Amino acid sequence: MSEVEQSLEQAAQLLCAARRVVVFTGAGISAESGIPTFRDPGGLWEQFRPEELATPEAFERNPDRVWAWYWQRRAVMAAAEPNAGHRALAQMEPLFEEFTIVTQNIDRLHQRAGSRRVLELHGTIFEQHCHRCGRLYDGEELPADRAPVCPVCGGRVRPSVVWFGELLPSSVFQAAQSAAERCHVLLSIGTSGEVYPAAGIVWQAKLHGAAVVEINPRWTELSGLADVRIPAPAAQVLPELLERVRRCRQRQ
Ligand code: OAD
Repeated sequence: MSEVEQSLEQAAQLLCAARRVVVFTGAGISAESGIPTFRDPGGLWEQFRPEELATPEAFERNPDRVWAWYWQRRAVMAAAEPNAGHRALAQMEPLFEEFTIVTQNIDRLHQRAGSRRVLELHGTIFEQHCHRCGRLYDGEELPADRAPVCPVCGGRVRPSVVWFGELLPSSVFQAAQSAAERCHVLLSIGTSGEVYPAAGIVWQAKLHGAAVVEINPRWTELSGLADVRIPAPAAQVLPELLERVRRCRQRQ
C-alpha cells in the first residue's frame, strides 16, 4: 500500500466511527476548479499585496481599485465549477448525524456542489453591502470597474467578504466553534492554516478530543496537529475517501 492509500484507509476508519464531523476548507479545495490560491508558488499574495486589496483601509483609500479586483475574481468564481472534491464532500453529508463545512472560501462552490450546511467564515464574493451603512445590494446591476455609491448614505458599496483587520461574522464563527467542540473528526482540507481566528477552529476541535485529518499535498502550520495526513490533491483523494467510508459503513 502507498503512503496515500494507507492514510486514506486510516482516515476512512476514523470517519466510519464518527457521528459528528467538521470539514475546514481553504483555497486548496478550489484549486482544481481553476481558482488560484493565496500562498502557493504563483499564488495571489505573490502577485498582489494584501494590504493594498484586502483591508478596510485599502478600500477607503482606493475603493474603485479594490472593487474592480474583487469583481474580476467574482467573474472567475462564477465561471468555475465545483470539482470532484466538493462533490464528494456533499455526498458525505448524509452519512453523518452532523456534518458541517466551515470554509474560508468566498466562492460558494461547496453550496453549488450540494452541501447544505456550510458556514462561510470569510463571507462571500456573491453579495455586496454599503461599507458605511451596511445596506445590502444585489449583484446583477453593479458595475465592474468602480465601487458604486450607496444612494441611501453616500458611502461606497463593497463585497461582503471579510478583510484583514475585520471581525468574522459573529454568529457564523460561534456556530463553527460549537461544531468544532462537538465533532469527533475534523477534516482540514486545502488550507495553509496561517490565518486566524479561522485556523483556531482546528485547534479547538483537537483540544476537545477530535481526531484531525489533513488533506494537503504540502506540509502546513496545522500538520503537526494532524493524527492522519493525506499528502495529495483534494479532488483526487476525496472520492476515494467517500467510497472507503461507505464500504466501512456497509460492513457495520
Ligand atoms: P492558502 O493559499 O494560504 O493555502 C492554500 C493551501 O492549499 C496550501 O497549503 C496548499 O498546499 C494547499 N493546496 C493547493 N492545492 C491543493 C489541492 N489541490 N488539494 C489540497 N490542498 C491544496 O489559502 P487559505 O489557507 O485558504 O483570507 O488562506 C486563508 C485565508 O488567507 C483566505 O481565506 C484569505 C487569505 O488571505 C482573506 O482574504 C481574509
